[in-house]
Amino acid sequence: MSVSQFRPVNQQPHPPALAALTAAGRVAESGAPLLRVGVIGYGYWGPNIVRNLHGLDRCSVVSVCDKSPTALRRASRQYPDIDVTTDFSAVLKAPDIDAVAVITPVWTHFELAKAALLNGKHVFVEKPFTCTSAQAEELIELAERKNLKVMVDHTFLFSGPVMKIRELVDTGTLGNLYYFDSTRVNLGLFQHDVNVVWDLAPHDLSIMDHIIADRPEAVVATGGKHLNGLADVAFITIYFPRNVIAHVNVNWLSPVKVRTTLIGGEDKMLVWNDLEPDEKIKVYDKGVKITTREDVHELLVSYRSGDVWAPRVEQTEALKVELDYFIDCVLNDLTPTNDGAAGLRVVKLLEAADTSLKERGRLVAV
Ligand SMILES: NC(=O)c1ccc[n+]([C@@H]2O[C@H](COP(=O)([O-])OP(=O)(O)OC[C@H]3O[C@@H](n4cnc5c(N)ncnc54)[C@H](O)[C@@H]3O)[C@@H](O)[C@H]2O)c1
Repeated sequence: MSVSQFRPVNQQPHPPALAALTAAGRVAESGAPLLRVGVIGYGYWGPNIVRNLHGLDRCSVVSVCDKSPTALRRASRQYPDIDVTTDFSAVLKAPDIDAVAVITPVWTHFELAKAALLNGKHVFVEKPFTCTSAQAEELIELAERKNLKVMVDHTFLFSGPVMKIRELVDTGTLGNLYYFDSTRVNLGLFQHDVNVVWDLAPHDLSIMDHIIADRPEAVVATGGKHLNGLADVAFITIYFPRNVIAHVNVNWLSPVKVRTTLIGGEDKMLVWNDLEPDEKIKVYDKGVKITTREDVHELLVSYRSGDVWAPRVEQTEALKVELDYFIDCVLNDLTPTNDGAAGLRVVKLLEAADTSLKERGRLVAV
């Protein structure tokens, strides 16, 4: 599956954007337009962003910024040709940078992304987009006003399994959806600034948002904090129209790592085990039919148990596909699937889950 499948059908490449970049002299040796990127944050995740951007034809990583000199020494050893700095404002103001990737802790996303937009830079920002929905709304409005792109790193949307699941749902293979049930548990890594919901659930919620076409109606969350005052175990239930229900189980206190999603439909059901090296998705032709007969008062339940198959899924690294798509969106003036609005939808669910969690499972409308 190619990156172009993320292009909304009503959006074709926009020649003036290409022309403007070419006119400004931002072209690769091949003559193709080039996006010049500055990356802020080179901790755990930042190196993955720099590695992938560095490997893409239409991109040049101009600068890496981190307030930690140790992190910058690591970056310089790996990429001697890339400038490094501890001063994020230098990156935000650099005239030879078109886009900024914000790969820092959640509480810094808003300030850095806002400053980047105010300086006329397109923004690629980590998940979760912001700490509050008000911040997300402000960034969306600012980007629109300045005609700049915002993409939120919802990495899994670009993974082979999620692209395949989306295809199975869109083509009606599963039939009408009944439920989405996702488990993402392991031991640690404890975060100091966010609870397990804000750390792990953005993955499941963004995948859910991408797969279920309807918008959620309400959230219930329960959980517990056992060690550092932040919730480390949480069970989130999301209610959708038409009787579709989703559940997300996130946990930093699990003895084993589990990454499993069950999706039940009227016609087929699937299991996605992301830890399987091959055959990550298995589709089951299983189902239940309930019928009544006039002369029989009790319900007749029949179970269907047919074939199981494992569709082929793309193996390309999701982050590479996503960053290539970011470049595509900027150079060709396209609206990303994972734009600020998608980031905001996830932040709203996280806020609702937090509220419900504090009130021991109150139903919170979204
Ligand atoms: N998409 C994914 O799968 C994925 C995976 C891991 C982390 N993340 C996200 O990436 C972000 C970073 O997470 P991490 O685990 O790499 O954190 P981290 O703490 O390991 O690294 C963050 C880095 O940012 C630097 N930093 C912080 N504020 C700065 C500033 N103002 N200027 C310059 N540098 C600054 C820190 O020095 C640190 O090196 C978080 O939002 C996290 O949710 C996403």
